[in-house]
Amino acid sequence: MKKQVLVIIFSITVVTCIFYSCTKDIGINPLIAFSDKALFDSCRNEAAFTYYKNSPATVYSGSNGPHGPFKLKFNKVALTALIDNGKLPVGKAFPDGSMIVKEVQSSGQFALMYKRAGSWLWAEINADGSVAYSVNKDAGAGCISCHNQTGHRDLVVSFNFY
Ligand code: HEC
Repeated sequence: MKKQVLVIIFSITVVTCIFYSCTKDIGINPLIAFSDKALFDSCRNEAAFTYYKNSPATVYSGSNGPHGPFKLKFNKVALTALIDNGKLPVGKAFPDGSMIVKEVQSSGQFALMYKRAGSWLWAEINADGSVAYSVNKDAGAGCISCHNQTGHRDLVVSFNFY
């Protein structure tokens, strides 16, 4: 009898361990990789980005957008799409995993777009990591309504002006 109880306890332990290691294998919630915090970390990873026109010193006027003067940078995935004289060809889309970051000069804020499953995630994160416009917020009125202006290329508008 005592032996049976031990076997049962042992079995439960084994099943729990297997279950636990399975969940571990699946990993933490993949959505966390696209949280404001994770995107903020990506923005600060200088090595992952190249500045627009390969020009880290250039500050663009920003006179057409809401952020004022800014620097513009693309991650490696986004960069592969800039094949029309350094711009995205008209009618083409950035591939999934593309990230475009505007470094707002007045405040150090990051305004960013990240391409996931065919659509952009939008966010604004302050220099101290606090969230100005969360990636979870509906970007329709706040960002896209303006970014879909005439001449946009996959909702990116800098190519119109710079
Ligand atoms: C009133 C219009 C307007 C709104 C609203 C707006 N943007 Fe923009 N955005 C622009 C313009 C214009 C540019 C091009 C550069 C410039 O002159 O500022 C730009 C550039 C950008 C860029 C660089 C890539 C590109 O498209 O050129 C990012 C990233 C960006 N904005 C993020 C955002 C996010 C995130 C929001 C919403 C929280 C937002 N923007 C809201 C007008 C707008």
